[in-house]
Amino acid sequence: MIQNPKRYTITAALPYTNGPIHIGHLAGVYVPADIYARFLRQQNKDVAFICGSDEHGVAISMKAKKEGITPQQVIDKYNKIIKDSFQEFGISFDNYSRTSAKIHHDTASDFFRKLYDEGKFIEEVTEQLYDAEANQFLADRFVTGTCPKCGNEDAYGDQCEKCGSSLNATDLINPKSTITGTTPVLKETKHWFLPLDQYDTFLREWILEGHKNDWKPNVYGQVKSWLDDGLKPRAVTRDLDWGIDVPVEGAEGKKLYVWFDAPIGYISSTKEWAAREGKDWQPYWKDQDTKLVHFIGKDNIVFHCVIFPAMLKAEGNYILPDNVPANEFLNLEGNKLSTSKNWAVWLNEYLVDFPEKQDVLRYVLTANAPETKDNDFTWKDFQARNNNELVAIFGNFINRVVVLTNKYYNGVIPAPNALSEVDKQTLAELKAYPAVIESSIERYRFREALGELMNVARLGNKYLADEEPWKLIKTDEERVKTQMYVALQIAAALSTLAEPFLPFSAAKLKNMLNIAEPIAWNKVAETSDLIPAGHQIGQAELLFAKIEDEEIQKQIDKLEATKVANAAEAKTVEPQKETTQFEDFAKIDLRVGTIIEAEKMPKANKLLVLKVDTGIDVRTIVSGIAEHFTPEELIGKQVTVLVNLAPRKLRGVESEGMLLLTETKEGKLVFVNPDEAGVYNGATIG
Ligand code: 2FM
Ligand code: ZN
Repeated sequence: MIQNPKRYTITAALPYTNGPIHIGHLAGVYVPADIYARFLRQQNKDVAFICGSDEHGVAISMKAKKEGITPQQVIDKYNKIIKDSFQEFGISFDNYSRTSAKIHHDTASDFFRKLYDEGKFIEEVTEQLYDAEANQFLADRFVTGTCPKCGNEDAYGDQCEKCGSSLNATDLINPKSTITGTTPVLKETKHWFLPLDQYDTFLREWILEGHKNDWKPNVYGQVKSWLDDGLKPRAVTRDLDWGIDVPVEGAEGKKLYVWFDAPIGYISSTKEWAAREGKDWQPYWKDQDTKLVHFIGKDNIVFHCVIFPAMLKAEGNYILPDNVPANEFLNLEGNKLSTSKNWAVWLNEYLVDFPEKQDVLRYVLTANAPETKDNDFTWKDFQARNNNELVAIFGNFINRVVVLTNKYYNGVIPAPNALSEVDKQTLAELKAYPAVIESSIERYRFREALGELMNVARLGNKYLADEEPWKLIKTDEERVKTQMYVALQIAAALSTLAEPFLPFSAAKLKNMLNIAEPIAWNKVAETSDLIPAGHQIGQAELLFAKIEDEEIQKQIDKLEATKVANAAEAKTVEPQKETTQFEDFAKIDLRVGTIIEAEKMPKANKLLVLKVDTGIDVRTIVSGIAEHFTPEELIGKQVTVLVNLAPRKLRGVESEGMLLLTETKEGKLVFVNPDEAGVYNGATIG
């Protein structure tokens, strides 16, 4: 781990432009990266916080096919949505580029060409999967199959997202083309391979020996298991029509593998930034005193800890990441987030549904960040954390301080009198927080850091609750001046310490406290005189507002609608049965009946024993609907009954007929119901 770096290059995974950003991306990558970058800037560090759109690869081509537009239209559409939403959400990239930019095509081509010229690749003709119907080689997401490592049946041609393994398409068991659904054949083609096996010693020394103690166990463990499995040469070119041309003779029509070009995107984005700012980009990538940190999700670990470092090592002039603090996954209401299944909270939609509430989402995603294990986002938890934590703890403290200062002193901070022991103790505690929060952030424990920030607000609340200035004001005005002065110092400290986590609220708070020049992070640790006596503060504004049940219900309903739509898409309508003659149909006797008794069949989960008044008689019908209805809700219900079905025994009970039911798109059974007033038992149907 590099000590006292001169500068920081912080990268956040380049998102594929095949859909908007969702909360999984935010929790896993962008919110922690942004907290880190903002924190370092607070410390006056030299920071380049780099990102951009990942616009190549099969993910884009597939989306273009699905939407019936060109890949260029896909990337233009989603690049704009993603870029705008990041900006509105306050992700403070120094540069957000695109891998379709010329600077990136040039940088990636030059990188490839240098490795090629120096003989760092193996050029080989091998048999690759080919879709004979689509006349296309099947790389990456164009082919799925069973992962040979973990048995996941939906592994891609280059990677299994379930176990994180990096794969060659020919490793897949039972491969299937995602273009035509056919089984691919093998066909010869020439490609360039990076011989990862030759980097085994380097990777072992650098990661397994060098980063045993400072890399997260999940990252370290994954790398170790790949290295122990043995690395194989990896193709870095593809037979595709979307991507960066392979810049050598004899490679016409071939493109760079997206995972070869995308991480180089960090470098080209840095170049773009430096050119705009009049800086030199090179120290940010080549000086050993630079701390390079890659923020990614766990499905990207192999690319950032094995493949990209091997590329950088092969190139020879670049530094390696100091850390790759990959997060686990965030689920949504118990299910895996999925762009294709629309199972997500999309950032662009959140910003419309919850305007001015960026910090609430930032807070919830950090408080519940999947740092060490997969976690679940639920709307109820979102509401509870807002109402019980942001509003009740942070907002409440600030509101009390600002309202009381305005009420007692017209907003002018009073001069304190002698400090009591409690005052001294409280201010001493306050001074200790910057170091505590800093230590958590330095170890990439952002949820722990956020917990400590909230403890600052708790310290303020406890101080006011114990001291009760609103009571003492009647008897000891001088003491209240000191109390309010102390409370105001805590509020001022919060305006600085909260900034990396809750930048919008921190800005609001600074405005409320009329702090023009932000208080430096280190100053909070050094002095208790953060805003002086005599300083005029502003009026109280609501820092956080309560979120009502209706707003949450709307979001839950939206997800329910997605479930229904997905189920509908998955449901296929069965083909029509053979034609039947009228005489045959006429043999069927359908009647209206009413269920008059219902009880569960003992020791059977699915069966109910019903007594049905068919108008002809009252008879017993055994029906397999116990998982869909309670006996109570059935009593009195009018239903359609097939009355002349030959009786049969179910669990020893003779069933004399059948109720007509159908299934909703969500798989729930419902009655084919007369549902009209005046329909009488025994009425025929036909
Ligand atoms: O998983 C993804 O969304 C990739 N587009 C991440 C790329 S990170 C980098 F290397 F560019
Ligand atoms: Zn797997």
